[in-house]
Amino acid sequence: MGSTATTTTADLASLRARLAEIGQDHVLNFIDRLDDARRGALLTQIAAIDLAGLPKLVDEYVKKKPGFVLAPDLAPAPFYAHDHRAEGGWDRATYKKAGEALIGAGKVAAFVVAGGQGSRLGYEGPKGCFPGGAVSKKPLFAIFAEGLLATERRYGKAIPWYIMTSPLNHEATVAFFKDHHFFGLRPQDVMFFSQGVMPSLDIRDGRMLMASTSEIATNPDGHGGSLKALAVSGALADMKKRGVEHLSYFQVDNPLVRVVDPVFIGLHAAAADSSGEMSSKMIPKAYPEEKLGVFCMANKKLDVIEYSDLPADLSKERGTDGRLKFLAGSIAIHVIGVSFIEKLNHDPAFSLPYHRAEKKIACVDPATGEAIAPASNNGVKLERFVFDALAFARKPIVYETDRLEEFAPIKNATGVDSVESCAQLQTARAAKWLEAAGVKIARKADGTPDCVLELSPLTALEPVDLVGKHLPKQIEAGARLAL
Ligand code: UTP
Repeated sequence: MGSTATTTTADLASLRARLAEIGQDHVLNFIDRLDDARRGALLTQIAAIDLAGLPKLVDEYVKKKPGFVLAPDLAPAPFYAHDHRAEGGWDRATYKKAGEALIGAGKVAAFVVAGGQGSRLGYEGPKGCFPGGAVSKKPLFAIFAEGLLATERRYGKAIPWYIMTSPLNHEATVAFFKDHHFFGLRPQDVMFFSQGVMPSLDIRDGRMLMASTSEIATNPDGHGGSLKALAVSGALADMKKRGVEHLSYFQVDNPLVRVVDPVFIGLHAAAADSSGEMSSKMIPKAYPEEKLGVFCMANKKLDVIEYSDLPADLSKERGTDGRLKFLAGSIAIHVIGVSFIEKLNHDPAFSLPYHRAEKKIACVDPATGEAIAPASNNGVKLERFVFDALAFARKPIVYETDRLEEFAPIKNATGVDSVESCAQLQTARAAKWLEAAGVKIARKADGTPDCVLELSPLTALEPVDLVGKHLPKQIEAGARLAL
């Protein structure tokens, strides 16, 4: 939120004075040497920054590092167990039906957050364009589109898809969809909107870093920025016009996600202990040090505690059943009520906290304009996280899912959560589903499939969809097969 761009000399002098008051006037160091277009662009960029709020952010997140305070009543969050027949079980079929009814009535839309910078992967271009299919090398966006097409066909209803980009990848994302004819979806049901950005700050003193002599370095404001961007962009109004009541939220990096899951939607919308405002999926953490945020109750509210903030002794504690006490790992899949998003945007007290990340940010020296390629972290990036909105939801619920069924994020080029591990997980899930349908699969001595497999959501959204399909009898060692 800022004022309109400054144009006159007097305006410029007052802007300089305003910036000087908060120690940020270096951003105008080169203004007199810029051509009209660049000068205009820089002034517009400054006008969009909340200058009044900046000193507080610098103080809280750069000069000091916000410490984590462990809530005195911290406890593991309750959740709906994956095994609905276990003790304290729940009626899966009823909730599935409730979710299906909502999808069939056109009350559910999909929402992918695709505004991140994907810097760990190091891929040029929006991450959704990354060839994520284990065999086909299909782009991640294509895999999600297939999931939506299959769901639309199943329930006979269009499912609007909202795609959040950032100013840094918006045009490239839209062009990619156009080039690929929207992957078979109706263009009028695919809506793109951009999230906001934050200035990237110098780690030493909180001064805004300059990307060039005419541009302040910025970063997208985090997936939590989506809650405001949905309203500001008009996406929320579009949902209301279409009669959409719930958003199935997922990230752009997980090709195994069930883009619209009737059971989860049904639980979110119809469970007695859910307000239908915001619900989350979890998987049991595999080991205490696994880098997943954990669903906890803190100060009587549902919260996700980052893995680095959960004390080691707590993360290692086990219950009488031998499972970790703080078990529920967040996989960034949520269902969010449209009226909840609307409520938040009308609530003057609603504001998500920022999270601070130290990054290497390419920039120029504000005194000389010379390019700096930092060897170590030189900047602080401030982001909001969507799960912090859980604290604003009345009666949010958590639902346990099976890791192998829907969690294979591509975060890194190699190693943990990488392209390779994602391909292995796609293969493992496809092998499990195909074996259940009677296909013999070559396996290695350690039990893992000796082949690379990929199942399109158009072939099967869930294992039962393979029954009666024309499938190979057997998959040989070394095979690479996309079905
Ligand atoms: P990540 O936390 O993996 O961040 O985003 P990232 O920016 O994509 O990747 P790195 O950290 O630079 O390697 C998780 C999800 O949230 C989206 C991402 O696109 C991804 O789907 N996201 C993240 C946004 O939409 N906006 C943001 O500002 C940040």
